Amino acid sequence: MTVILGVTGCIAAYKAALVLRLLQREGISVLPVMTRSATHFLGPLTLEKLSGSRVVCDQWETRPDEIEHIGLARRSDLLLVAPATASTLAKFAAGIGDDFLSTLYLSTTTPVVVAPAMNVEMWRHPATRRNLETLRRDGVVVVEPDSGYQACGEYGEGRLADPARVVADVLRLLRGGRTLVGVKVLVTAGPTFEDIDPVRFLSNRSSGKMGYAVAREAARRGATVYLVTGPTSLPIPREVEAVRVRSAAEMAAAVFSLFPDMHVVVKAAAVADYRPVERLPGKLKKGRESWALGLEATPDILAELAARRKDQILVGFAAESEDLEKNAAEKLRRKSLDLVVANDITDAEGGFDSDDNRVLLVDRRGEIARHPLMPKTAVARLVWDRIEALLPTRPEPAPGVASRAVES
Ligand code: PMT
Repeated sequence: MTVILGVTGCIAAYKAALVLRLLQREGISVLPVMTRSATHFLGPLTLEKLSGSRVVCDQWETRPDEIEHIGLARRSDLLLVAPATASTLAKFAAGIGDDFLSTLYLSTTTPVVVAPAMNVEMWRHPATRRNLETLRRDGVVVVEPDSGYQACGEYGEGRLADPARVVADVLRLLRGGRTLVGVKVLVTAGPTFEDIDPVRFLSNRSSGKMGYAVAREAARRGATVYLVTGPTSLPIPREVEAVRVRSAAEMAAAVFSLFPDMHVVVKAAAVADYRPVERLPGKLKKGRESWALGLEATPDILAELAARRKDQILVGFAAESEDLEKNAAEKLRRKSLDLVVANDITDAEGGFDSDDNRVLLVDRRGEIARHPLMPKTAVARLVWDRIEALLPTRPEPAPGVASRAVES
């Protein structure tokens, strides 16, 4: 398989060499293309030597015996642009072909992946948001950037995604995305209802959107998915086996009975921590001045799974309102989890009942990744990329693929 690696002009251009190497390690041939401004940050010779292919930088420089943009587009299986600057994204979104890479983009019929990298304010600018929206609508896969210290000295969203994550998205597309075939997955989603009497209950604001997105993404990657869902208004995804439950006790029973056969469990449900000590058989009549409700703790399903596990991967979510990183790491350790996906539930743009979420991932290897606000569907992709990296056996790379693009 052959990937065209487009490199555009920003400080993260040097990471393109690592992306190239990781692709080659998967048996993929890489054809590098650089914009003129990229060459100010990274010498073409570096990519030329690593790939064994002459780097095309300018459409006016190609010789008659060389492949021009149409030919190159036809010879490849995927176009990856990493890093992709705001300016390149704008050109792609507007359909401007004024250099080799943008003309190549317009003429390609293969999947396209872009990994943006830019200053935090450029990333947040409405023009960049608009252009990314257009590109997503056009079918381009956007590898969401990381958050952290930037070369310009500012802190925030816009750092090029970890090269391993960029390559994971490329591999999924190249392999038809079916990277979880044979893997059995259990996902929990939604709230639980803890009945007080026949008409009243205790619950929370979970809509189920996050957990359903996680279940759908696993099914899209070929996993066999069991979804244990609390009451939500969402339609059950057709591709999953769903078990509807109401209370924490019902969720616990459903999860424990499925668990022994599972490879991965992702607990995105917002399980009630407390329930009424007793459920009143009849409706509590009004008229009392005040009323005390006795509560008791519900079973901690995740902690019990950790105690029963053999070699399953356990992923917990953490709904936090402060100290995300510290509390997530503490939850990972206390519940013996492989991965914790923490979200700040005081965040007005993410968390409960929103289409978007802003998450921090902490895994058992101590890796911590803070991600910007993105659709819950994109969070689900991130979560599965990370879980796949933790699975004991990874799918083999496509056999018999040369690591050099063009024989020199
Ligand atoms: O459903 P949405 O509207 O899309 O909102 C998504 C979400 C905010 C609900 C989701 O992203 C999220 O954070 N889910 C976990 C909510 C939660 O219960 O967090 P917690 O920190 O209280 O619990 C930690 C973990 O233990 C969770 O994986 C939870 O499922 C699990 N747990 C909690 C209590 C309990 N009795 N048993 C459990 O297994």
